Amino acid sequence: MKGIVLAAGKGTRLYPMTKPVCKPLLPVYDKPLIYYPIAILMQAGISDILIIVPPDETATFRALLGDGSQYGVRIEYAEQPVPRGIADALLIGREFVGEDKVCLVLGDNIFYAKDLGKTLKQAADVDHGATVFGYWVEDPRPFGVVEFDKDGKAISIEEKPRYPKSNYIVPGLYFYDNQVMGIAGNLKPSARGELEITDVNLEYLRRGELKVMPLAKDFTWLDAGTADSLIDAGQTIRKIQDETGRYVGCLEELALNEGWVTEDHVHAIGDELNMTLYGQYLQCL
Ligand code: G1P
Repeated sequence: MKGIVLAAGKGTRLYPMTKPVCKPLLPVYDKPLIYYPIAILMQAGISDILIIVPPDETATFRALLGDGSQYGVRIEYAEQPVPRGIADALLIGREFVGEDKVCLVLGDNIFYAKDLGKTLKQAADVDHGATVFGYWVEDPRPFGVVEFDKDGKAISIEEKPRYPKSNYIVPGLYFYDNQVMGIAGNLKPSARGELEITDVNLEYLRRGELKVMPLAKDFTWLDAGTADSLIDAGQTIRKIQDETGRYVGCLEELALNEGWVTEDHVHAIGDELNMTLYGQYLQCL
């Protein structure tokens, strides 16, 4: 399975912060925001990753993440010239995905749960159809909202509805089989001029091939698209790390867990960063 991180948004809701620095590179507590969605792909067992970045930003992202070998993965970059919507990421990634399955994650979505890796690997193992998630929020109006029937089967999804039919939103993490390439290729822009990921999911729903996994109450999902949600995300990560003594989104540790790098490799990176708590954490793995 291939992985795509869509990190091409301008982050206009975070101006002026995102004028010189694009949103995925802003800090969420002690790491750049983009570490967290990359961590999601790695925990799903995905090591072939395409990062879609804003125009002329490839060099900046490459300066941070390189070719991925530091984290035992292979990272490629592509630029999204015009923000044409989330589903456009699939079209940009067409050659990269080829005949494979694909997991798409949004560059500002953060997930945390104790058994996250298990849930993600379950979704990645599904060979046919689409798997997305349902997450309960107080105010679902700014998101894609999924409605379930009394047997827990998804029956509708609406993008940013004025009158939501449930409190369950579809977070920005999508697992698709290769049918998605055809589906994305046939999309028409929505009223807001975007290729909507909700329309992709609706097509799977129409085909009877959409699985919506409800996320348990102990799941944390954060999107970091506004100043408030960015600081909330930072505080939440800090709290989780303080309470558990484990780092969230520590790419070197995840690579070690997957068997993609050696302990010596991680310790050497720790030595380089030993002026930080992050580096000292790596030295002790
Ligand atoms: C996008 C999707 C929406 C999803 C949300 C998750 O919204 O369109 O369905 O629930 O991401 O973050 P946007 O970022 O375009 O507001």
